[in-house]
Amino acid sequence: MRFDRKELGVAVVGAGRIGTHRSRLAAQHPAVRFLAVSDIDADRARALGERVGAQVASGSNEEIISHPDVNVVVVSTSEFAHVEPVLQALELGKPVLVEKPIAMSLEDADRIMASAEKNKVDLRVGYIMRYKRRYFLGKEQIEEGRLGRLVGATGRVFNSRAQAFEILKRSADATPVLDVLTYYVDMMCWFMGGNRPVEVFCRGNGIVFKEAGYPKVDDVSWAIITFADGAVVNLGICYSLPAKYPTAGQSVRLEVIGTDGVLMFDEDHKENILYTEKGYPHAYVPDHSLPMVFLGSTSSGDWALDNMYGPIGDETRGWLDYLSTGRPCHLATAEDARQTLEVTIAMEESARTGDAVKLPLGEGH
Ligand SMILES: NC(=O)c1ccc[n+]([C@@H]2O[C@H](COP(=O)([O-])OP(=O)(O)OC[C@H]3O[C@@H](n4cnc5c(N)ncnc54)[C@H](O)[C@@H]3O)[C@@H](O)[C@H]2O)c1
Repeated sequence: MRFDRKELGVAVVGAGRIGTHRSRLAAQHPAVRFLAVSDIDADRARALGERVGAQVASGSNEEIISHPDVNVVVVSTSEFAHVEPVLQALELGKPVLVEKPIAMSLEDADRIMASAEKNKVDLRVGYIMRYKRRYFLGKEQIEEGRLGRLVGATGRVFNSRAQAFEILKRSADATPVLDVLTYYVDMMCWFMGGNRPVEVFCRGNGIVFKEAGYPKVDDVSWAIITFADGAVVNLGICYSLPAKYPTAGQSVRLEVIGTDGVLMFDEDHKENILYTEKGYPHAYVPDHSLPMVFLGSTSSGDWALDNMYGPIGDETRGWLDYLSTGRPCHLATAEDARQTLEVTIAMEESARTGDAVKLPLGEGH
């Protein structure tokens, strides 16, 4: 048995909420010897750099991506700003972890995939729900054949409008479908294995976001995805529950039906409730506090007792372990993320036109 351990120099591009988690986690990882952070807002990069003890903090992404001590790159910028730093890292042959969605158009996703292939570089996408214990245990049961052949599934995700407005403030095109339901499209495609989605139908309805100045954003979206072997998956999202609704991230129900078994995930988080007259600070929405919260509903996980517990912690450590030791990790690949993006774009198109949309999508998406 050999104990090879590659030392890692990590660049984290984007010093916002998620870049902060990734940087804190990288700073704690035993294989990481060098850490650099950047943000278009140089003050933000400096503040994060100081907080995590990074060797370099910069207002230039290129400076940290091309730094000779950096050999792996995390891209945690806003949704519309993934492509450029990802391409810079790939051109330099440095493995990348980019936040979901991989890009905002299939054209950009294809540029990323072409560069990863040309430069033979590993690129993974942060679909952190794959690192929730319940879901990877479910995947294991499917792989072991305990469900038989999958015939269908249903799932829905709820959250308060407080978080949706934070996302839209940053990226007005990052609708709940493209930015959040994407996690569960990824999960369903992962569960379905190589069975490809072939058709998408979706209906949406909206008042709250439209009245607030986001004409393209629905309050509820309900979709049916048909897979190549006939399996049908119903997925829905509502991110417009009242701002003080106790979910502090996501409340989810997911059920997967096979010929020989069924998986039922009850992830509303109603089983752990905190009520406090001092207010519970929302991890994602500044200056927002809740009198009552479903503890554990923060989707990326929670810092508690000086450590990060939950999927973003396990995913980041899983990726760094993989790069350092070569041990396999189950993060989404570029191909997975491109397929998921295609399904979510088709959902929006179907909701807009009223028609079912066949996959693959043609040019211009
Ligand atoms: N995995 C998860 O749990 C999870 C959760 C929420 C969001 N996300 C994803 O993470 C990404 C970031 O989300 P966030 O919540 O951290 O947003 P955020 O607004 O808190 O942070 C984004 C940061 O990117 C910076 N930025 C924007 N353009 C840049 C550029 N060209 N170069 C350098 N920095 C730039 C902004 O200044 C900001 O600091 C998004 O893709 C989002 O969908 C992932």
